[in-house]
Amino acid sequence: MRGENGLEVRKIAVLGAGLMGHGIAQVAAQVGKYEVSLRDVKQEFIDRGMDMIRNSLQKFLSKGVISEAEMNEVLARIHPTIDLKEAVSDADLIIEAVPENIELKKSVFSEVDSLAPPHAIIASNTSSISITELASATNRPEKVCGMHFFNPPQLMKLVEIIKGAKTSDETIQTVRQVAEKMGKETVLVKKDCPGFIVNRILIPALNEAVALVWEGIADKEDIDKAIKLGLNWPMGPLTLLDYIGLDTTLAIAEVLESEIDPKFHPCPLLRQMVRAKLLGRKTGKGFYDWTKK
Ligand code: CAA
Repeated sequence: MRGENGLEVRKIAVLGAGLMGHGIAQVAAQVGKYEVSLRDVKQEFIDRGMDMIRNSLQKFLSKGVISEAEMNEVLARIHPTIDLKEAVSDADLIIEAVPENIELKKSVFSEVDSLAPPHAIIASNTSSISITELASATNRPEKVCGMHFFNPPQLMKLVEIIKGAKTSDETIQTVRQVAEKMGKETVLVKKDCPGFIVNRILIPALNEAVALVWEGIADKEDIDKAIKLGLNWPMGPLTLLDYIGLDTTLAIAEVLESEIDPKFHPCPLLRQMVRAKLLGRKTGKGFYDWTKK
């Protein structure tokens, strides 16, 4: 069915119930009032994602942003499942938020393409992977685009919308309308280029913060303090790295390096910490110890 300027979206499927996926599903159900399927590959991942949604809703409840009845309505609109077919077979928009691995994402796109209705749009929340390449894994490249949320999706206002080489204007218009219904501001990335707008600027800045530690130029606390107070960032770059995940940041830096310019080469300390599984909050330790917080 078509709306005024694009496809009318009633049901959204979010693939991946992790750090980003759970938050996207929540915003879609809470602010956008969409029916949402939330799919992950294991029941324990789904359970963890639903727990994070309940925790976040509790925060909004305790601040009076939503009532208990609204909280229950939001939860009733989210349908968790481990069955991909069940999740996408009647979806109008599928938002993929699986780990940042190109082969994995391409296989998800190809499978979704074979299971989703022909009119459905498939969007990726990728931070850096080529939308055109993901689209090439489907038979509907005009219905594939990037829809990049920021962490935590419940609080961050921006969604970057990325046009792949074959994305249609109708797809862009539809995704823009959905993002706005979710209460987000959008920006259009007109050319499919790794890192889009925000990560093209952010990742080199985070990498330089890691280099300052590696070179022993300042202590991590002072680096964070300098950027918080000197640039008015809400959190310092090393704290932000722990929130985003050092593995995710490394993956993005590697794509920028290989696809745009060697100047984006990741600092050796970043790679070393990823090898040591010091990934940030998700593993309990990164630049800081989160196990006691
Ligand atoms: N759901 C609901 N409420 C939440 C929440 C969630 N998931 N997370 C935090 N909150 C609430 C807290 O309960 C808190 O409420 P009170 O003020 O009533 O206590 C409030 O939000 C503020 O949280 P905190 O006190 O914990 O911390 P804060 O004041 O620092 O704000 C923040 C949190 C909005 C995340 C802020 O620190 C911030 O803007 N940080 C930068 C985030 C950022 O840069 N994100 C982008 C990362 S890059 C990315 O995502 C893209 C990529 O591809 C890598």
